[in-house]
Amino acid sequence: MMKGIESCQLERIKNGVFLMEYVVGIDLGTSSLKGIVTNKAGKVIACASEHYSFFQKQTGWSEQNSDDWFIALQKVLRKFIAEVANFSENLKGISFSGQMHSLVLLDEKKQVLRPAILWNDVRTSRECEQIKDKLGEQLLEITKNQVLEGFTLPKLLWVKKNEPEIWSRVRHILLPKDYLRYRLTGKMHIDFSDAAGTLLLDLERQVWSEEVAKSFGIPFTYFPPLVESLKCVGTLLPESLGDVKISPKVKVMAGAADNACAALSAGIFSSEKGLVSIGTSGVFLTCGEGQEPVTGELHWFNHAVPASCYLMGVTLAAGYSLQWMKQTFAQEKSFPEALSGIEKVLPGANGLLFTPYIVGERVPYPDGQIRGSFLGIDTKHTFPHFMRAVIEGVTFSLKDVQVLLEKMLRKTFTEIISVGGGAKNKEWAQIQADVFDAEIFALAVEEGPSMGAAMIAAVGVGWFDSLEICAKSFVSYHKVATPITENVRTYQKIYSIYQQVYGQTKVISHELRAFDDENVEEE
Ligand code: XUL
Repeated sequence: MMKGIESCQLERIKNGVFLMEYVVGIDLGTSSLKGIVTNKAGKVIACASEHYSFFQKQTGWSEQNSDDWFIALQKVLRKFIAEVANFSENLKGISFSGQMHSLVLLDEKKQVLRPAILWNDVRTSRECEQIKDKLGEQLLEITKNQVLEGFTLPKLLWVKKNEPEIWSRVRHILLPKDYLRYRLTGKMHIDFSDAAGTLLLDLERQVWSEEVAKSFGIPFTYFPPLVESLKCVGTLLPESLGDVKISPKVKVMAGAADNACAALSAGIFSSEKGLVSIGTSGVFLTCGEGQEPVTGELHWFNHAVPASCYLMGVTLAAGYSLQWMKQTFAQEKSFPEALSGIEKVLPGANGLLFTPYIVGERVPYPDGQIRGSFLGIDTKHTFPHFMRAVIEGVTFSLKDVQVLLEKMLRKTFTEIISVGGGAKNKEWAQIQADVFDAEIFALAVEEGPSMGAAMIAAVGVGWFDSLEICAKSFVSYHKVATPITENVRTYQKIYSIYQQVYGQTKVISHELRAFDDENVEEE
């Protein structure tokens, strides 16, 4: 939705230059494409978003039409043209953030061959086994990551095996934001932060890994050139946006993975603070210090900041758990309505416990076949208990990542910046403070990864010398929750119960999954 458009003509920066220049940050997310327009002071002049859906043709599958992203981009830009003063003339640069790992395949004419297979698609368990059998520990040594269903390499192997006709026509492999950028510039690239999530990047040497690609018969020519996030990779092709007219002089910067952009938007440039980001998935992230052991328990990806990395873990269904819960059991209610009453439920939801593995899990349980559970259901439980239990379960799942990060970095997070759904709800912010036992900060302007993309554009057009300097103008936050000792103790007890659930229900959960699969096949 469009925010109020500011009368930027009246704003001046200190040296008297009119703040009439803009950059745009675009975040190509899983459920929507969001764009923001900012000026040099980091002020958000406008923002707009367009929703689209992902479809699940089978259990565990998740796909999207790449054209939907492009149409959403056109709509967002049209709104900016209509509502921001002199937008087209004064737009200097644009950059992108995007959902990671998702696979877009193109033929020799650069036409899309099939719907994109998304990061939250877990159909590739067999391919993951195949990759482990073939490369074993070598994969971890080269890519610094272990194989997971959501990453790009197993998706490629799935298409190769199950759709040989399509595979025979593949000539280009892109990720979503890189595809969108290609539509604007006619040029194909990928930045290091997204390349790291493909499992095809040699993370140490910062080149595509010949060993990995050769082992699975993936021609090197299919990969786009690797570039830094800040790199200007071109300008807008005159007709690329159809009837949406924007100056062809606009610089297009490569951009970065959504998690790298979320980190930028929260000013995460070191391991001093943690970042918790709750969107469809949930992420606990901080920067690496360079000395951490590579165990594969956490994801290890390039940051958008040159020569720096971040470590993170993912809960596949974070906001999605809540969305699923509301959609399934309270469709007629708005989110605030569905959440009302959770503040009256005591920490621990009176013995109701939820595990958010409703689409499988990643960290700390790399298991595409596990599914979620409610445990301890009692007749006294009402809808608010279930909603609170979902929020607590998602937060415990992120606590699992916190524990791993703290062990790896040998530190305790006392300050966490929370972005996304978890920061917007007062109760959830307090639950985070109590479960993480840390002070929770929210951003003054919460625009998510699109802000990180705008920062890349701002540095790319030369407004700032570095992302760190840009953050001084673009990022500010304030405290929203402090741990309450009594709640911290309560949650420590419940968390230790939560930690037992995966191990004790894994076999049952897998059997139920197999039963469901068999039934689908018989239908
Ligand atoms: C990260 C991941 C998700 C997506 C969401 O590894 O899979 O956070 O990036 O868009």
